Order: sequence, then structure tokens, then C-alpha cells
Amino acid sequence: MSPGPTARDVARILGSGPLTGRVRVPGDKSISHRALIFAALAEGRSEIVGLSRGDDVVRTAAALAALGAEVDARRWDHVVVDGGVSRLREAERPIDVGNSGTGLRLLAGVASRLPFLTVLLGDASIHRRPMGRIVEPLREMGAVIDGRDGGRLAPLVVRGGELQGIDFTPPVPSAQVKSAVLLAGLGASGPTTVRERFATRRHTEEMLELAGAPAEVAEQGGDHVVRVRGDTELAPFSIDVPGDPSQAAFLVVAALVVPGSEVVVEQVYVGPGRAGFVDVLLRMGADIELVRRDATTADLVVRHSDLHATEVRGAEVPDCIDEIPVLAVAACFARGTTVFADAAELRVKESDRIATTTSELRRIGGDVEATEDGMVVRGGGIEPRGTVHSHGDHRIAMALAVAGLAGGPGSELDVDGFAAVETSWPGFLDTIAALR
Ligand code: S3P
Repeated sequence: MSPGPTARDVARILGSGPLTGRVRVPGDKSISHRALIFAALAEGRSEIVGLSRGDDVVRTAAALAALGAEVDARRWDHVVVDGGVSRLREAERPIDVGNSGTGLRLLAGVASRLPFLTVLLGDASIHRRPMGRIVEPLREMGAVIDGRDGGRLAPLVVRGGELQGIDFTPPVPSAQVKSAVLLAGLGASGPTTVRERFATRRHTEEMLELAGAPAEVAEQGGDHVVRVRGDTELAPFSIDVPGDPSQAAFLVVAALVVPGSEVVVEQVYVGPGRAGFVDVLLRMGADIELVRRDATTADLVVRHSDLHATEVRGAEVPDCIDEIPVLAVAACFARGTTVFADAAELRVKESDRIATTTSELRRIGGDVEATEDGMVVRGGGIEPRGTVHSHGDHRIAMALAVAGLAGGPGSELDVDGFAAVETSWPGFLDTIAALR
């Protein structure tokens, strides 16, 4: 990873004053990982336009190349992949996913169906994150997986091979778990079914359709149910990756809290499971207009707004899980007390986001209290001065930068460890600068 901007650069670029203009955000990270993985499995040549340039996605591309897919990434804005299961072979070295939970968990699903050994590891944060949630169902399907703490922690050593389909209900709402099991299921004998109590983002379902896989997606008895047939051959495809709503959320909240702002974020994915943060902000009184481009993308037109408090809990949480740190920043500027609950998953993200959001916003005067499964935020503003810390977490770094933008003239906030943004959005500060 390149060192990225320093804390001083952050303070200089953040400056003060309204944000105005039209911008694009990077290609969606979740879709980017899946586009590469599905292209590596599909028999033939796939073309991918608009991939995320973040380190997480770059590493997934490198992992697939190490496994034998031909990934031509000389032009990152138009990547060509010659894939096919029969070309995939044992990687010579362990695969290092860096900071990427999606990369590690989805690749573990793929590796489970490949008849050789794959070792998956990453950075210190990845090695703390729970892997039992994928290892258990993948073992049940027949993969031989070992890892630290009996396979609950990475590195994971996967000996893949003959798998049997399963009928599985993930114990936590997780698109990564759903996707790992479905990816393994594509190479298993017999069907694999995943039942979600709370439906999570549908990108794997969308990719199955794009790659011509016979799959059934249905709502049954309140569950979101996805079934793939075993021994499925995927067809190559072309995809233009839409803008990442999780990245758009930082610009949206920045425009809402900085007086005088009016920003248009173009071509953002707003399909199922991803636009929850817009609903939360609309409930808070935000002036956000969705101008539809097609069924799953829209331009977001956002104007500075007076916000009021809301509650975010239950089925809504998976739809905005990655946006909760920046929603907490918005809540600091809202009238009243905002409650985030049923969000214990935040504790096992790139950092413990309940702890890191709370500690860093409190450092700059935010009235934020951690609960076991969320946060309570009393509005009343913040005083973004001094130094805050990213804890190596890209979303914490960007949420704090947004808090810094709201500081007004003369305020200077240094975000220590800002380089963490490289994992998902190397151009974040340039985009902010372009809105000045
Ligand atoms: C993702 C799923 C979510 C999300 C992550 C990306 C995906 O994680 O937080 O940033 O691409 O499937 P979980 O599956 O752990 O909820």
C-alpha cells in the first residue's frame, strides 16, 4: 500500500467552506470483488469497467491471478479477465488479502471447491476478525479448513475438493457469509440454499444472473432464500461497475452538515441492501433527491439541511451497516438523541467501529455513548480541532474527515493514520478538493 496523505495534508485539503459541484465516487467495492471473482470462474473472457481502485480490490485481482486466472489489469478502468475453473491451479504462495474481509471470505468460498491447497492471510485487523462463520458451513460442505484457534481466525489453510451442497441459515446477517457459501455451492454436487432472516446486499445474486447461472431467489416465510445448482458453469460477461453508495455516504453527510453545500453524486448504486443510509437521512430531515438512472443506480442531489434525530435498528441495520460511522457524525449535528441498536456486527469490522467511532467523536466534543450493540448520539455539534485517529480503518478515517469538514473557518483537524483510506478510496481527498 502506498503511504497515502499525511495528517497535515488532510488538514490542508479539508479547509473550510461549502461543498459544491458534481462528482463521481469509485466503483462499488462489493461489486468489484464479485465481478473479478465471477470473471475468474466464468469460462471465457469477461470485461470489467469501473472497478474500485482500492487496495482491497487490487489484492483480490492479484489473488485470482495467482490462482491462474488471466487478469489483464494494465488499464484498471477496463480490466479483461480470461477465466474458467479448469485453468485455476494451486497458488505458489499464500494469498495476502491485506485488510479485506470480503476478499478473504469470498476467496475462501472459491478455494473450498478447488482441488488443491490455498492459504489465505492478511493484515493484523483481518487476523482478528471472525472466520468461524464461513469455516463452519464450508467444512459442512466438505472442505478441509484449518486456521488459528481451530479455524476461527485467519490465516486459513483451505484444502478444497469435492463438496456437497447444503441448506444453510447464517447465524448473523452477512453478505460475505452468504456469498462464500454460494460460491462454494456453484462447484458442489447438489443444490446449495442460503436462507437469510434479514436480507443482505444482493450483489452475489445479481452476479449469478449476469453470469447466466441457474439460481432461484425468493422470499419465503419472511426469509430471503437463494438456491444455486451444483456443478454450475458460469458464462463470461461485461459489467460497468456503478458508484459505491458507501463512499457516496461520506459526501452526502458532508454536504448535509456543511452550511451552503449542494452536491450531486453521480451514478450511485442504490439497489437492495445498500441505500439504507439514504432512508435514515431522509427520516432525519435531509434534503436528498434521488434522480434515477436505471433500476439500481441514481444520482444523489444533496443540499445542506437541518437534521433531527432518529432510531436505526432491526432489519434496517444490514442495509446501512458500513455507513453507521458517518451516520453517527450526521447525528452529532442533529437535534435530539439518535439511537443505533442491533448493530453488534460493527464490533467485528476493520476496527471495533462502536468503540472507535465513539472514542474519536468524543475526542472532538461529540456526545456519543457506546452500547453493547450500537451507540447513543446526542446532537449538539462537535468541535473538530486537534488530532483524531483512524485506528487503521478506512471508514473511520473518512467519517472523521467529514467531521473535520464541518468545523468552519479556522478549524484544523488532523486524522492520524489517514492512509487507511487507501484500502477503499485512494482519491478521497482529491474528490473533496474538487468540491471546493
Ligand atoms: C460486504 C458485506 C458486509 C459489509 C462489507 C462488504 C460484502 O460485511 O460490511 O463492507 O461485500 O459482502 P458482512 O458480510 O460481514 O456483513
